[in-house]
Amino acid sequence: MEREELLVLAREAAQKARCPYSHFRVGAALVAGGKTYVGVNIEISSYGLTLCAERSALASALSAGSLPITHIAVACIDALPDAPPNERTPCGACRQWIADLAPNVTIFIDGIERDFTISDLLPHAFTL
Ligand code: THU
Repeated sequence: MEREELLVLAREAAQKARCPYSHFRVGAALVAGGKTYVGVNIEISSYGLTLCAERSALASALSAGSLPITHIAVACIDALPDAPPNERTPCGACRQWIADLAPNVTIFIDGIERDFTISDLLPHAFTL
């Protein structure tokens, strides 16, 4: 699947985000075992238990038994058009999930032209 197709799926998924507290909608779409899976950020009243879109999509793929994960796209559709990369790229927890579960993935970020590896985003990642 092409970069732009996967970004479209991520943007579409973000419309379904549950984020009544931050109002910051995020969608993720990934390719695993040749199929696509999406995830959204899910906020609940105990804010610290929020689930990010990336981990939501990874859990969906893992739950379906689909591996390996080859591509993941992330769209923060409420980021301002001129928002810097730090307002668009995965948080630390999601980077660790990606490092563990999709170490060879190519990462597409909406609004950033270049593609990333997880080593770009999380050098010297912890592994067991
Ligand atoms: N969020 C994600 O879904 N993914 C990230 O990598 C960063 C942050 C969500 C969590 C929260 O619902 C909202 O964005 C604002 O932090």
